[in-house]
Amino acid sequence: MPLVNAKEMLTKAKAGHYAVGQFNINNLEWTKSILLTAQEMNSPVILGVSEGAGKYMCGYKTVVGMVEGMLEGLNITVPVALHLDHGSYEGAKACIEAGFSSIMFDGSHYPIDENIEKTKELVAICEEKGLSIEAEVGSIGGEEDGVVGAGECADPNECKMIADLGVTMLAAGIGNIHGKYPENWAGLSFETLAAVQEKTGTMPLVLHGGTGIPAEMIQKAISLGVSKINVNTECQLAFQEATRKYIEDGKDLQGKGFDPRKLLAPGAEAIKACVREKIELFGSANKA
Ligand code: 13P
Repeated sequence: MPLVNAKEMLTKAKAGHYAVGQFNINNLEWTKSILLTAQEMNSPVILGVSEGAGKYMCGYKTVVGMVEGMLEGLNITVPVALHLDHGSYEGAKACIEAGFSSIMFDGSHYPIDENIEKTKELVAICEEKGLSIEAEVGSIGGEEDGVVGAGECADPNECKMIADLGVTMLAAGIGNIHGKYPENWAGLSFETLAAVQEKTGTMPLVLHGGTGIPAEMIQKAISLGVSKINVNTECQLAFQEATRKYIEDGKDLQGKGFDPRKLLAPGAEAIKACVREKIELFGSANKA
Protein backbone atom coordinates (compact mmCIF):
# COMPACT_ATOMS: atom_id res chain seq x y z
CA MET A 1 0.00 0.00 0.00
CA PRO A 2 1.42 3.46 -0.84
CA LEU A 3 2.00 6.03 1.93
CA VAL A 4 -1.16 7.56 3.34
CA ASN A 5 -1.64 10.75 5.32
CA ALA A 6 -2.50 10.39 9.00
CA LYS A 7 -6.02 11.85 8.91
CA GLU A 8 -8.11 8.73 8.58
CA MET A 9 -6.09 6.63 11.02
CA LEU A 10 -6.25 9.37 13.66
CA THR A 11 -9.93 10.14 13.18
CA LYS A 12 -10.64 6.43 13.71
CA ALA A 13 -8.32 6.32 16.73
CA LYS A 14 -10.00 9.30 18.37
CA ALA A 15 -13.47 7.81 17.81
CA GLY A 16 -12.34 4.33 18.90
CA HIS A 17 -10.46 5.51 22.04
CA TYR A 18 -7.03 4.20 21.16
CA ALA A 19 -3.83 5.83 19.92
CA VAL A 20 -1.60 5.30 16.90
CA GLY A 21 2.13 5.17 17.63
CA GLN A 22 4.59 7.46 15.93
CA PHE A 23 7.95 5.74 16.04
CA ASN A 24 10.95 7.78 14.96
CA ILE A 25 13.30 6.25 12.42
CA ASN A 26 17.06 6.60 12.14
CA ASN A 27 18.13 4.17 9.45
CA LEU A 28 17.13 1.15 7.42
CA GLU A 29 17.07 -1.32 10.33
CA TRP A 30 14.85 1.00 12.38
CA THR A 31 12.38 1.47 9.57
CA LYS A 32 12.25 -2.21 8.69
CA SER A 33 11.71 -3.25 12.32
CA ILE A 34 8.84 -0.80 12.80
CA LEU A 35 7.12 -1.64 9.52
CA LEU A 36 7.35 -5.41 10.05
CA THR A 37 5.96 -5.11 13.58
CA ALA A 38 3.06 -2.89 12.53
CA GLN A 39 2.25 -5.37 9.77
CA GLU A 40 2.51 -8.36 12.11
CA MET A 41 0.12 -6.65 14.55
CA ASN A 42 -2.18 -5.33 11.85
CA SER A 43 -1.78 -1.82 13.19
CA PRO A 44 -1.61 1.55 11.46
CA VAL A 45 1.70 3.30 12.10
CA ILE A 46 3.39 6.67 11.71
CA LEU A 47 7.09 6.86 10.92
CA GLY A 48 8.54 10.02 12.47
CA VAL A 49 11.59 11.75 10.99
CA SER A 50 13.27 14.61 12.84
CA GLU A 51 15.18 17.13 10.78
CA GLY A 52 18.43 15.79 12.24
CA ALA A 53 17.53 12.19 11.35
CA GLY A 54 16.51 13.33 7.87
CA LYS A 55 19.94 14.90 7.40
CA TYR A 56 21.63 11.77 8.78
CA MET A 57 19.74 9.60 6.28
CA CYS A 58 21.04 11.75 3.41
CA GLY A 59 18.01 14.01 3.04
CA TYR A 60 14.25 13.69 2.81
CA LYS A 61 14.23 12.27 -0.71
CA THR A 62 16.37 9.35 0.42
CA VAL A 63 13.96 8.74 3.28
CA VAL A 64 10.94 8.76 0.97
CA GLY A 65 12.71 6.42 -1.46
CA MET A 66 13.71 4.01 1.30
CA VAL A 67 10.27 3.92 2.93
CA GLU A 68 8.35 3.59 -0.33
CA GLY A 69 10.71 0.84 -1.45
CA MET A 70 10.17 -1.04 1.80
CA LEU A 71 6.38 -0.77 1.63
CA GLU A 72 6.58 -2.58 -1.66
CA GLY A 73 9.50 -4.90 -0.91
CA LEU A 74 8.09 -6.06 2.43
CA ASN A 75 4.47 -6.21 1.20
CA ILE A 76 3.24 -3.81 3.86
CA THR A 77 -0.54 -3.52 3.67
CA VAL A 78 -1.30 -1.63 6.91
CA PRO A 79 -1.67 2.18 6.66
CA VAL A 80 1.71 3.93 7.01
CA ALA A 81 2.24 7.69 7.21
CA LEU A 82 5.66 9.28 6.79
CA HIS A 83 5.72 12.30 9.06
CA LEU A 84 8.19 15.12 9.70
CA ASP A 85 8.72 15.46 13.45
CA HIS A 86 9.13 18.96 14.96
CA GLY A 87 9.60 20.57 11.59
CA SER A 88 10.72 24.11 11.01
CA TYR A 89 8.82 26.16 8.44
CA GLU A 90 11.54 25.47 5.83
CA GLY A 91 11.83 21.81 6.81
CA ALA A 92 8.07 21.37 6.43
CA LYS A 93 8.17 22.80 2.93
CA ALA A 94 11.12 20.58 1.99
CA CYS A 95 9.30 17.45 3.19
CA ILE A 96 6.12 18.37 1.30
CA GLU A 97 8.29 18.71 -1.78
CA ALA A 98 10.13 15.42 -1.16
CA GLY A 99 6.96 13.29 -0.91
CA PHE A 100 6.25 12.93 2.83
CA SER A 101 2.58 12.21 3.53
CA SER A 102 2.40 14.19 6.76
CA ILE A 103 4.26 17.01 8.48
CA MET A 104 4.53 18.61 11.85
CA PHE A 105 5.16 22.30 11.97
CA ASP A 106 6.47 23.16 15.41
CA GLY A 107 5.85 26.87 15.83
CA SER A 108 5.57 26.59 19.61
CA HIS A 109 8.65 28.78 20.14
CA TYR A 110 7.11 31.66 18.14
CA PRO A 111 4.72 34.17 19.67
CA ILE A 112 1.19 32.77 19.18
CA ASP A 113 0.33 35.19 16.35
CA GLU A 114 3.35 34.11 14.33
CA ASN A 115 2.67 30.44 15.11
CA ILE A 116 -0.88 30.95 13.81
CA GLU A 117 0.23 32.74 10.66
CA LYS A 118 2.83 30.17 9.65
CA THR A 119 0.62 27.20 10.59
CA LYS A 120 -2.21 28.65 8.52
CA GLU A 121 -0.02 28.93 5.46
CA LEU A 122 1.18 25.35 5.79
CA VAL A 123 -2.37 24.08 6.41
CA ALA A 124 -3.39 25.52 3.03
CA ILE A 125 -0.48 23.84 1.24
CA CYS A 126 -1.10 20.49 2.96
CA GLU A 127 -4.80 20.65 2.16
CA GLU A 128 -4.05 21.23 -1.49
CA LYS A 129 -1.54 18.40 -1.67
CA GLY A 130 -3.42 15.92 0.53
CA LEU A 131 -1.02 15.80 3.47
CA SER A 132 -1.92 15.76 7.14
CA ILE A 133 -0.43 18.42 9.42
CA GLU A 134 0.36 18.54 13.12
CA ALA A 135 0.83 21.80 15.01
CA GLU A 136 2.15 22.43 18.50
CA VAL A 137 1.18 24.71 21.34
CA GLY A 138 3.19 24.85 24.57
CA SER A 139 6.67 23.51 24.12
CA ILE A 140 7.55 19.93 25.03
CA GLY A 141 10.39 19.83 27.53
CA GLY A 142 13.70 18.02 27.30
CA GLU A 143 16.12 17.91 24.44
CA GLU A 144 15.61 16.49 20.98
CA ASP A 145 18.09 16.99 18.20
CA GLY A 146 19.62 19.96 19.97
CA VAL A 147 16.25 21.67 20.45
CA VAL A 148 15.76 22.25 24.16
CA GLY A 149 12.25 22.99 25.42
CA ALA A 150 11.30 24.03 28.94
CA GLY A 151 8.19 21.80 29.12
CA GLU A 152 5.27 24.07 29.66
CA CYS A 153 1.56 23.37 29.79
CA ALA A 154 -0.35 24.67 26.79
CA ASP A 155 -3.01 27.36 27.06
CA PRO A 156 -6.31 25.65 26.06
CA ASN A 157 -7.55 28.84 24.37
CA GLU A 158 -4.43 29.00 22.20
CA CYS A 159 -4.95 25.31 21.39
CA LYS A 160 -8.43 26.12 20.16
CA MET A 161 -7.09 28.96 17.98
CA ILE A 162 -4.58 26.61 16.32
CA ALA A 163 -7.07 23.72 16.05
CA ASP A 164 -9.52 26.02 14.27
CA LEU A 165 -6.96 26.63 11.51
CA GLY A 166 -7.77 23.18 10.16
CA VAL A 167 -4.77 21.19 11.36
CA THR A 168 -5.19 17.41 11.39
CA MET A 169 -3.77 16.86 14.88
CA LEU A 170 -2.56 18.98 17.73
CA ALA A 171 0.36 18.50 20.10
CA ALA A 172 -0.29 20.28 23.38
CA GLY A 173 2.33 20.46 26.10
CA ILE A 174 0.95 18.83 29.28
CA GLY A 175 4.14 18.46 31.30
CA ASN A 176 5.56 15.79 28.96
CA ILE A 177 9.22 15.88 27.97
CA HIS A 178 11.45 14.21 25.41
CA GLY A 179 13.97 11.63 26.55
CA LYS A 180 14.14 9.97 29.97
CA TYR A 181 11.92 11.46 32.68
CA PRO A 182 13.79 12.76 35.72
CA GLU A 183 13.17 11.16 39.13
CA ASN A 184 11.29 14.22 40.34
CA TRP A 185 9.00 14.52 37.28
CA ALA A 186 5.59 15.82 38.32
CA GLY A 187 3.71 13.60 35.82
CA LEU A 188 1.27 14.59 33.08
CA SER A 189 -1.16 17.41 33.75
CA PHE A 190 -4.51 15.72 33.11
CA GLU A 191 -6.22 18.92 34.11
CA THR A 192 -4.59 20.69 31.15
CA LEU A 193 -5.33 17.77 28.84
CA ALA A 194 -9.00 17.70 29.83
CA ALA A 195 -9.28 21.47 29.28
CA VAL A 196 -7.59 21.20 25.85
CA GLN A 197 -9.84 18.32 24.85
CA GLU A 198 -12.92 20.25 25.94
CA LYS A 199 -11.93 23.22 23.79
CA THR A 200 -10.82 21.25 20.74
CA GLY A 201 -13.57 18.58 20.58
CA THR A 202 -12.89 15.90 18.01
CA MET A 203 -9.36 17.07 17.19
CA PRO A 204 -6.90 14.16 17.65
CA LEU A 205 -4.40 15.20 20.33
CA VAL A 206 -0.74 14.18 20.24
CA LEU A 207 1.35 13.12 23.20
CA HIS A 208 5.08 13.65 22.63
CA GLY A 209 7.77 12.18 24.84
CA GLY A 210 6.17 8.73 24.97
CA THR A 211 9.33 7.13 26.41
CA GLY A 212 8.98 6.13 30.03
CA ILE A 213 5.44 7.37 30.67
CA PRO A 214 3.79 4.79 32.99
CA ALA A 215 1.09 2.63 31.37
CA GLU A 216 -1.73 4.00 33.58
CA MET A 217 -0.88 7.56 32.54
CA ILE A 218 -0.85 6.55 28.87
CA GLN A 219 -4.28 4.95 29.25
CA LYS A 220 -5.70 7.96 31.04
CA ALA A 221 -4.27 10.28 28.38
CA ILE A 222 -5.94 8.18 25.66
CA SER A 223 -9.25 8.34 27.54
CA LEU A 224 -8.89 12.15 27.49
CA GLY A 225 -8.48 12.42 23.73
CA VAL A 226 -4.85 11.54 22.94
CA SER A 227 -4.87 9.67 19.61
CA LYS A 228 -1.20 9.75 18.62
CA ILE A 229 1.76 8.98 20.87
CA ASN A 230 5.36 9.63 19.86
CA VAL A 231 8.13 7.26 20.88
CA ASN A 232 11.78 7.74 20.05
CA THR A 233 14.26 7.35 22.93
CA GLU A 234 12.83 4.03 24.13
CA CYS A 235 13.65 2.30 20.83
CA GLN A 236 17.12 3.84 20.92
CA LEU A 237 17.73 2.50 24.43
CA ALA A 238 16.43 -0.95 23.46
CA PHE A 239 18.73 -1.00 20.41
CA GLN A 240 21.70 0.18 22.46
CA GLU A 241 21.21 -2.40 25.20
CA ALA A 242 20.89 -5.33 22.80
CA THR A 243 23.88 -4.21 20.72
CA ARG A 244 26.00 -3.72 23.83
CA LYS A 245 25.14 -7.23 25.00
CA TYR A 246 26.09 -8.73 21.62
CA ILE A 247 29.52 -7.10 21.78
CA GLU A 248 30.06 -7.76 25.48
CA ASP A 249 29.24 -11.42 24.95
CA GLY A 250 31.98 -11.47 22.32
CA LYS A 251 29.55 -12.54 19.57
CA ASP A 252 31.15 -10.18 17.08
CA LEU A 253 34.37 -12.16 17.47
CA GLN A 254 32.79 -15.53 16.74
CA GLY A 255 32.61 -16.80 13.16
CA LYS A 256 31.10 -14.16 10.93
CA GLY A 257 29.67 -12.26 13.89
CA PHE A 258 31.28 -9.12 12.51
CA ASP A 259 28.87 -9.14 9.53
CA PRO A 260 26.72 -6.01 10.00
CA ARG A 261 23.62 -8.03 9.23
CA LYS A 262 24.44 -10.17 12.29
CA LEU A 263 25.85 -7.37 14.41
CA LEU A 264 22.73 -5.22 14.04
CA ALA A 265 20.20 -8.07 14.30
CA PRO A 266 19.77 -8.13 18.11
CA GLY A 267 19.21 -4.35 18.13
CA ALA A 268 16.65 -4.66 15.35
CA GLU A 269 14.83 -7.40 17.28
CA ALA A 270 14.87 -5.21 20.40
CA ILE A 271 13.24 -2.37 18.45
CA LYS A 272 10.55 -4.79 17.29
CA ALA A 273 9.86 -5.85 20.89
CA CYS A 274 9.62 -2.22 21.98
CA VAL A 275 7.23 -1.32 19.15
CA ARG A 276 5.12 -4.41 19.83
CA GLU A 277 4.76 -3.47 23.50
CA LYS A 278 3.72 0.09 22.62
CA ILE A 279 1.20 -0.98 19.98
CA GLU A 280 -0.40 -3.26 22.57
CA LEU A 281 -0.46 -0.52 25.19
CA PHE A 282 -1.83 2.10 22.79
CA GLY A 283 -4.58 -0.30 21.64
CA SER A 284 -3.95 0.03 17.89
CA ALA A 285 -3.42 -3.69 17.17
CA ASN A 286 -5.92 -5.00 14.60
CA LYS A 287 -7.08 -1.47 13.77
CA ALA A 288 -5.43 -1.32 10.34
P1 13P B 1 10.78 10.34 23.35
O1 13P B 1 12.14 10.36 22.73
O2 13P B 1 10.80 10.84 24.74
O3 13P B 1 10.12 9.02 23.22
O4 13P B 1 9.90 11.41 22.55
C1 13P B 1 9.65 11.22 21.19
C2 13P B 1 8.93 12.37 20.60
O5 13P B 1 8.12 13.01 21.22
C3 13P B 1 9.20 12.69 19.19
O6 13P B 1 8.60 13.86 18.81
